[in-house]
Amino acid sequence: MLRYVTTNPGKVREAESYLADGSVSQLDFDYAEIQADELAPIAARGARDAYREAGEPVLVDDAGLFVEALDGFPGPYSSYVEDTLGIDRVWEIVHDLEDRRAAFRCTLAYCDGAGFAASPDAVDRGDRVAAAAAGPGGGTDDGGEDDEGGGGEGRAESLPVKLFEGYVPGRVVAPRGDGGFGYDPIFEHDGETFAEMDTERKNAVSHRGRALEKFAEWYADR
Ligand code: IMP
Repeated sequence: MLRYVTTNPGKVREAESYLADGSVSQLDFDYAEIQADELAPIAARGARDAYREAGEPVLVDDAGLFVEALDGFPGPYSSYVEDTLGIDRVWEIVHDLEDRRAAFRCTLAYCDGAGFAASPDAVDRGDRVAAAAAGPGGGTDDGGEDDEGGGGEGRAESLPVKLFEGYVPGRVVAPRGDGGFGYDPIFEHDGETFAEMDTERKNAVSHRGRALEKFAEWYADR
């Protein structure tokens, strides 16, 4: 059984549309998010931690809203900004900008503890090198094969992780709609906010839908 690691059941509902009935279930595990200015290292680390917790195949999803005129802010800090400012204040900030274009991005990270050709772009390699340099006990990870190529990094951060990315362009608008979650009411794509779309319609265009589509195709052969 594939475990979708999230505290947000809305994400699992979206994932269920892409995977065979009953093949995915929520793992309500709140892994500690590392601080990074990109989604991929956060998702990769989360997948390794969640796999160690669950002991079965896991899919971790890290997503964020990237506002162009704010140089991508809040991006990887979207969760913190939603919890502290809230989406109404994000709208107020963007309202004062001339350019309200934004994008949603999602990175899915898969880990099942087995070896496979992991993503060639070892996005968290810097992190791994630092952990390896700290020596045994210096990193936060246990041993195993390193399938991300390169080698020579010792035992740190050794679980292979496969990454899948999705992106959707749009713009920030005044809140509209009752569906979805998070920033959905203030993110508009093609004239509709995500909160005005049902799950099927949102999946057809969303960052998560695009990433899930790529994952489901790869996973079907696994
Ligand atoms: P995380 O990936 O669960 O850490 O989410 C980061 C932030 O983005 C949180 O504030 C979520 O509510 C928000 N978020 C993630 N995915 C979506 C989405 O599909 N629509 C709206 N907000 C989202």
